Amino acid sequence: MELFMPKNIIVTGGCGFIGSNFVHYIVKNHPETHVTVLDKLTYAGNLENIRPLLGDQVEFVHGDICDAALLDEIVPGHDAIVHYAAESHNDNSIADPEPFLKTNVEGTFRLIEAARKYDVRYHHVSTDEVYGDLALDDPNKFTEETPYHPSSPYSSTKASSDMLVRAWFRTYGLRMTISNCSNNYGPYQHVEKFIPRQITNIIEGIRPKLYGNGKNVRDWIHTEDHSSAVWTILTRGKIGETYLIGANGERNNLTVLQDILRVMGQPEDAFDWVKDRPGHDRRYAIDSTKLQTELGWRPTHTDFESGLRQTIQWYVDNPQWWEPAKAATEARYKAQGQ
Ligand code: NAD
Ligand code: DAU
Repeated sequence: MELFMPKNIIVTGGCGFIGSNFVHYIVKNHPETHVTVLDKLTYAGNLENIRPLLGDQVEFVHGDICDAALLDEIVPGHDAIVHYAAESHNDNSIADPEPFLKTNVEGTFRLIEAARKYDVRYHHVSTDEVYGDLALDDPNKFTEETPYHPSSPYSSTKASSDMLVRAWFRTYGLRMTISNCSNNYGPYQHVEKFIPRQITNIIEGIRPKLYGNGKNVRDWIHTEDHSSAVWTILTRGKIGETYLIGANGERNNLTVLQDILRVMGQPEDAFDWVKDRPGHDRRYAIDSTKLQTELGWRPTHTDFESGLRQTIQWYVDNPQWWEPAKAATEARYKAQGQ
């Protein structure tokens, strides 16, 4: 196994939820690696997520991954790009798909063109949603061999971006790896997403909202485990390969909501059933055997209840971080009947 130790990496989307957690992970564990964060600061990006880290090790560039001229300016001199930037929310993609095409497909195209031009290693952060969904009683999980079958505008643009990266590897020899991860939870997640939405609803005295029948299953992983997995793949992964990231965290939405209600001292039925998401994927489940056996990665946050408690505490302790986005997010959901 060859070891690649990046000295100077670009992290796109490093002011979003998972990207900023990755930057924190690098600062904590790899002080020898310089990071340039490239982020457009959309509604989902927040410079506060990394502000305390800015300095000699971490630099911030405000810009769009679709801007080829900007990439020509900043990519030379870096030895890797780790690409997190995306439009990431399924409900938004259903309401207005166009920004998803632009950022997720064109943005990825611009980045891999720059990576090719300047011979920079490229890691592509993707999602398990490219595989579509599983039946609730299916004994199988997704593996690297599962055929692509995305359901939503969001997941179809992520699947398209994965295909571009694979084609650039085969045709141009792009030095790339891809990871497809399951649902993340942890600090700095936008209040539009399931877990933070329910936590902050309860704090604000709004009843949590559950889509459909609440039986849909997601495979939860703490975002710090996602970060360590991406670092493992970047440094030890085989060029041209795809690795699935997951931590055996399958739970249905009703169970997760009841966990949140219990931890926050509320009755387990103190929530509203709301209209289902169109095309709602039933179940995701990841088999991460390849990553564990070939690269030796292991998750450390294997106790979901404890990770959830810490996450709830983070939102309780940091209202200044999420309050500015809360009212507009709930107004958008209300207009959609959710
Ligand atoms: P997020 O929405 O919290 O953050 C996205 C970040 O990208 C924001 O900082 C935003 O400003 C930035 N951005 C958006 N468009 C941009 C553009 N054109 N140019 C530069 N920056 C831009 O997303 P997230 O949940 O942190 O997800 C990050 C990545 O991980 C995405 O690629 C997503 O598909 C993938 N992923 C997410 C999950 C999950 O559970 N959230 C799971 C697996 C994979
Ligand atoms: O699987 C990885 C994906 O996980 C990532 O690629 C996406 O970027 C990320 O947003 C996430 O997608 P989901 O659609 O699974 O996450 P979300 O938090 O939007 O919803 C989780 C589940 O909760 C889903 O079944 C819908 C449901 N839900 C969501 C909200 C916001 C509710 O029941 N009520 C809600 O209010």
